[in-house]
Parts: sequence; structure tokens; C-alpha cells
Amino acid sequence: MTIRTALTELVGVRHPVVQTGMGWVSGPRLVSATARAGGLGILASATMTYDELATVIRETKGRTDAPFGVNLRADAEDAGRRVDLLISEGVKVASFAMAPRREMIAELKDAGIVVIPSIGAARHAVKVAAWGADAVIVQGGEGGGHTGGIATTLLLPSVLDAVDIPVVAAGGFYDGRGLAAALAYGAAGVAMGTRFLLTSDSAVPDAVKREYLERGLGDTVVTTKVDGVPHRVLRTELVDSLERSHGVATLAYAARNTVRFRRLTGVSWRALVTEGLAMRRNGDRTWAQLMMAANTPMLLRAGLVDGDTGAGLLASGQVAGMIHDLPSVADLIADIVAVAEKRLDEMAALR
Ligand SMILES: Cc1cc2nc3c(=O)[nH]c(=O)nc-3n(C[C@H](O)[C@H](O)[C@H](O)COP(=O)(O)O)c2cc1C
Repeated sequence: MTIRTALTELVGVRHPVVQTGMGWVSGPRLVSATARAGGLGILASATMTYDELATVIRETKGRTDAPFGVNLRADAEDAGRRVDLLISEGVKVASFAMAPRREMIAELKDAGIVVIPSIGAARHAVKVAAWGADAVIVQGGEGGGHTGGIATTLLLPSVLDAVDIPVVAAGGFYDGRGLAAALAYGAAGVAMGTRFLLTSDSAVPDAVKREYLERGLGDTVVTTKVDGVPHRVLRTELVDSLERSHGVATLAYAARNTVRFRRLTGVSWRALVTEGLAMRRNGDRTWAQLMMAANTPMLLRAGLVDGDTGAGLLASGQVAGMIHDLPSVADLIADIVAVAEKRLDEMAALR
């Protein structure tokens, strides 16, 4: 089974399938399972301390010799140290949730690391491509976690038209038909979050996985009440009550978690305030919402790690409504590639 694309060539993986860096979800077990199955697995590090990141990189290397990546927060106080760590550990791919600085891209590339930021608009793809990014992951509005409003079917071609570097499609993918469709658009592969969360190799508690499996296509919601920016999550009582809440209650809730988050992730007060000021300049967000921005990781941990689906947040793509099983990562990737090959053959036979 081989579908060779610009992504498989760039990273040296067997299949053009990426398991994205999902906070609290993408740990050594999931990432190494993906790497062994021939996909590109990406460790999530935005929710880890520097020491935890160092430990999970070594653990992942101990589990597989295949290439894997690390998702970084470019605005973390210790982002420079984390970049140095990726370099000294010989990590193959650096992924970013938001655009990294130009110098950070240059430093990583000088060390031979492949840089693949995730972007949500063509203009961001143009910017990071000009700064030397090797490829981009473009996430359409169907996708889980922080997301934009434009569907993958339109965002993907807009980005493909805008840049010459390989583009990996994300948001709403879960099977081989999706991979074939993305390749038909001209993408170099697909990246999936929710589908990999719902595998037997992900460490998310079983009860939480069942909560996802029970949901239909209309059961996610994009809320700005959590942190002021659109965030796609499963609709739960917590989300409904946040949607109804007003300033003071949200502020008290936010304040409890902000300090914990800062300690946990190394994001500086300065970065939080700078981000907050920029958000206020760009819109009508309240300070309560700005503080909630710091809380998202704690709420996700309550849901995805502690399994407290009542008090926690469950980030999810709309695709949860199409997923009804918990395959192993090896079976999932083998099936996606086999079905995509069949679809591509059938498409070729149409001519
Ligand atoms: C539980 C969860 C956590 C996520 N955490 C992150 C993160 O920490 N960093 C990031 O860049 N993207 C994060 N995302 C977004 C995913 O990386 C990916 O772009 C998205 O899930 C793709 O859409 P899909 O869910 O339809 O596959 C998260 C998504 C989910 C579902």
C-alpha cells in the first residue's frame, strides 16, 4: 500500500495521514502507534511543562524509530528552550497551533527540522510560507478545538490557490474517502484529530470515548464563551450554562484556573496580557473572556484526562457524528489507505 505525496516525501512517512497534536490527548502511546502504522503522529505540548515534554519525547523515541512531530505554542515563555529541545532530541517535525515567529522557523529549519504550522486562513498560509514553513495544515470549520467559520471544502482550495508548499487538509476527515477527496483537491494528505482521539490507542477514558460515540452530526457547538475565540466542543450541560452565563460568574470561574494554567504551561503573564490586549483591540471581548482563554486547557483536562464530562470540556469535530467505533491506530490507518487507493483507482477508471 503506497500513496506517495509531497508530505510522505517531506517527512519520510509511509502514508499521507497525520494524527494532530491534541492537548491532553496526543501522548507517547498514540503518537508511537501512529508512527509505527506509517502515519505522522504529533505530540501535544501546549499542555505540558518543559520537563514533561522532554520525558514524553524520550518515551516516544523509546517506542518507535519512525519519525514523529511535536506541537508547540510559539508564545510560551520557554518556547526557545522547547525549540532547542526538539533540535537536541532530533525530532523530525515541529507543528504550531498559531504562526511561529520567522526566527523560530529559521532556527528549526537550520537544524533540519520540518516546520508545519496549522493555519485557518489563506493569508496566514502565505505569511508562514514566505517565512520558510515547509508545509501547512489547514483546518476547516468542521474541525475540533479552536476553529474558524469556513468549511474545509472552501478553505482548502483557497489555501491551495494561495501557496506553493504542500497543504495538508484537516477538519472533518475520518476515512479513506476523505483522504481520496483531499488528494483530488490537490492536498498532500489529511490530518485528523477527533478520529484519532476515538481509537483504542488513545489514553482518553473509555467513558469519555463512549460520550463521543453516542453523539450525532448536530451535537457539537462552536462557543466563544470559553475563551472568547470560536472553539468547537461537544454540547454538554457545562457548555450550555457557559453560553447562558454573564461576566461576573465567568470571571470567578476563570480566575480559579488561570494561575494553575500558567504554572503548568510556562505561558508568561506578559504573553497573556499582550494576547488579551490584542483581543480587546480586535473585538469586544471582556476581561472575563480573556481570563477564560487561560482556562481552556484546565477545562479540557477535566474532561479528557479526569473523565469528568460534567465539569470538563470535550473538544470535538463535527466528525464525531460519523464515528461509531474505536479501532486500533494500525487498523484505522490501514483501512484509510486501502479505501483511498480503491477510490483513486475507481476515479481513474472513470476516464
Ligand atoms: C480534543 C482536541 C484537542 C485539540 N488540541 C489542539 C492543540 O493543543 N493544538 C492544536 O494545534 N490543535 C488542537 N486541536 C485541533 C486538532 O489538532 C485538529 O486540527 C482538529 O481536530 C482537526 O479536525 P477534526 O477533529 O475534524 O479531525 C485539538 C482538537 C481536539 C479534538
